Amino acid sequence: MNIAAGSNRSSRIAGFHKLSPRERLDLVAAFAGLDEAQVAHLANMGNLDPVLADKLIENVIGTMNIPVGVATNMKIDGEDVLVPMATEESSVVAAVCNAAKQVYETGFLTSVSGNLMIAQVQAVEVADPAGARIRILEKRDEIKAACDACDPVLVSLGGGFRDLEVRLLDTPSGTMVVTHLIVDTRDAMGANAVNTMAEKLAPSIAAWSGGRVYLRILSNLADRRLARARAVWKAADIGGEAVRDGIVSAYEFAAADPYRAATHNKGIMNGISAVVLATGNDTRAVEAGAHAYAARSGRYTSLTTYEVDKDGNLSASIELPLAVGLIGGATKVHPTARACLAILGVTTAERLARIIAAVGLAQNFSALKALATTGIQKGHMALHAQNIAMMAGAVGEEIDRVARLLVERASVRMDVAQKVLEEVRGS
Ligand code: MEV
Repeated sequence: MNIAAGSNRSSRIAGFHKLSPRERLDLVAAFAGLDEAQVAHLANMGNLDPVLADKLIENVIGTMNIPVGVATNMKIDGEDVLVPMATEESSVVAAVCNAAKQVYETGFLTSVSGNLMIAQVQAVEVADPAGARIRILEKRDEIKAACDACDPVLVSLGGGFRDLEVRLLDTPSGTMVVTHLIVDTRDAMGANAVNTMAEKLAPSIAAWSGGRVYLRILSNLADRRLARARAVWKAADIGGEAVRDGIVSAYEFAAADPYRAATHNKGIMNGISAVVLATGNDTRAVEAGAHAYAARSGRYTSLTTYEVDKDGNLSASIELPLAVGLIGGATKVHPTARACLAILGVTTAERLARIIAAVGLAQNFSALKALATTGIQKGHMALHAQNIAMMAGAVGEEIDRVARLLVERASVRMDVAQKVLEEVRGS
């Protein structure tokens, strides 16, 4: 039964933000004609305290639960790690487990370039951009002092201002003078810290440049915060030289073709975003940084590389910006994120970034191996069949039975699932 859909379907709801989640939900239910089951479902916020949910974002009416799975077999820099991954996509967790199993003996080796974030201050209408650039660079000590004064806690933890860059950008409305504040944000993702510094510095930069300042905001192209991982899969452990060469060829395809690179990198981000989300970090920031980095040469390309090493094994690597933190944002306040960080046992943002890079590489290896051999549909379909079985109405043990039969019949379709479910129930 639908709750009466309101006759006034206006989206202009005065004071909506001041209501409680339940009051908002009732209004939304009336607007959209939700049935009682849908309302009850949305009202159940699971393991996220409604009070906290209501503080995290605006106009909350519910939560969106995504499964958290754990990737096993991961050995990173000699240490075994269990990696929580939050994703709705079947086969993503299994892919990491499989890739890691095939390289468990040596595992993944990782490194980072540092924890440096960049904030940009945009100055326009500058009469002498080249002169302005030099005038701003001359103020380095003053800029450092002003930035560090914004965040004494960060400085006490060993972070703070590190470097200054001033770039001149030719645009249709003239040359812009863009100042980069380069800041070590330690174990924070750092957006708040660097944005505060950029805003603080803006009036001075306007004065020194003689222009007007508009934007003062971090760059998600965090190319001073790169994480790297590498691994060597023995040809004998991955099905021989033909499989190895197929993977190298798949990489070369992605390296040469943006159409393929987009899909190749999407697969990498299947793994990366899942860990970023599980730990309460900003998936969009990491994704924007990754794709911008993949296009840094002017042509979008692969974030990973694959080569045959001198012993005939598959030498693989990944490098990408990973602006993740352990403090700030949802990482500290979301209880699931806190628990996931506890599973990882990480005490620094650097270690988290290194683990995430290794997961991205593992994810990509599995995808390329499947694509270069049997194709992804076989493994994918086995898991997808379970979703289809549930959508057809299977419950409990029926789910596995229906899914198995769908795969056996090579027909993972809703209409077939309904028929198979009837057969299972009738048997
Ligand atoms: C699917 O989510 C990801 C893949 O398409 C990645 C790839 O093609 O490399 C399998």
